[in-house]
Amino acid sequence: MPSGLVIGAEGLLGGALLAKLRAAGWVVAGTTRREKGREDLIGLDLADPPDRFLLDARLERLFAEGPVCAFLLAAATGYERCETEPVATRIVNVDHTVATARRLVERGAFAVFPSSSAVFGDTGAQALGEGATTRPTTEYGRQKAEVERAMAKFAAGAPANAGAATVRIAKVVHAGGRFGEWMNRLACGTPIETARDMMLSPVSPDYVARGLSRIAERRASGVYHLSGAQDVSYFEFARMLAGALGCSQSLVRAVEVRAFLGAGVSNSGRLHMGNPSRDAGLEPQTLESALTDLIREFRGSR
Ligand SMILES: NC(=O)c1ccc[n+]([C@@H]2O[C@H](COP(=O)([O-])OP(=O)(O)OC[C@H]3O[C@@H](n4cnc5c(N)ncnc54)[C@H](OP(=O)(O)O)[C@@H]3O)[C@@H](O)[C@H]2O)c1
Repeated sequence: MPSGLVIGAEGLLGGALLAKLRAAGWVVAGTTRREKGREDLIGLDLADPPDRFLLDARLERLFAEGPVCAFLLAAATGYERCETEPVATRIVNVDHTVATARRLVERGAFAVFPSSSAVFGDTGAQALGEGATTRPTTEYGRQKAEVERAMAKFAAGAPANAGAATVRIAKVVHAGGRFGEWMNRLACGTPIETARDMMLSPVSPDYVARGLSRIAERRASGVYHLSGAQDVSYFEFARMLAGALGCSQSLVRAVEVRAFLGAGVSNSGRLHMGNPSRDAGLEPQTLESALTDLIREFRGSR
């Protein structure tokens, strides 16, 4: 069983992955920005260079356990924040993420970097494959594309049994944030407004955690996609949620938002999962499965 290092263990995907790896019997370590009082997680703030973190004795012990898979999930994730604070977010999302990945791969780790469909910009209805050219139109997408290029270089120069993978992930739906708010409102009989002209191809945190651990276990460098099987508008998806919750679908009202968002905003939904992903045993998540996971999480959180 490999050892796992989850960088950004308190985030949405980091938390789901940490739990999944622990349940599968991996030896795991994670990182936190709120180090105080946390013996189980190692302190790391990517606003600063990662030197102190890389010398931590707990990391040393993890490498002594066996082959390490490092998941680089910590990031300043908001599109808007990347747009308004490009310098500060670039230090976290590019400079220090790349520095951390390089040092871990040199030490023999297999590094897994979660990227996004945002590297393709606004592709409309077209689902692009792992080998397609990246054309980001947002700062978030440009930062992701830059780390992807670094990961490809690390993969090419990695020592034996080390390597680097980029995993582009479609929209993750979970019971916090926007979708939780919608479900709470629907459950109270309050109408919601959702975009008819923005698409998503939803995947659940559980599906992503399974995919990431599978890719890490194989230790084969490359680019992979984790996507929903089907594109759907936010409006259609909200209507499905209302139906699954037993609420009236008439509570869901359609609005048009594209014209207000500007040309740079990414409207990518589905990613094509071609041979690299299929060969790794990965399949797209069905819409029904993503919806079921979301409803289960929502009901469990109430
Ligand atoms: N969710 C999606 O739909 C999706 C889709 C494609 C790709 N991704 C990528 O997957 C990764 C994880 O996403 P997520 O949804 O789990 O994001 P998230 O919930 O926002 O978690 C991000 C984590 O990064 C940590 N972090 C932020 N700034 C940091 C810094 N300066 N130093 C150290 N840690 C820092 C956060 O720490 P705090 O808890 O202290 O804030 C949090 O634990 C990101 O790279 C994201 O771009 C996500």
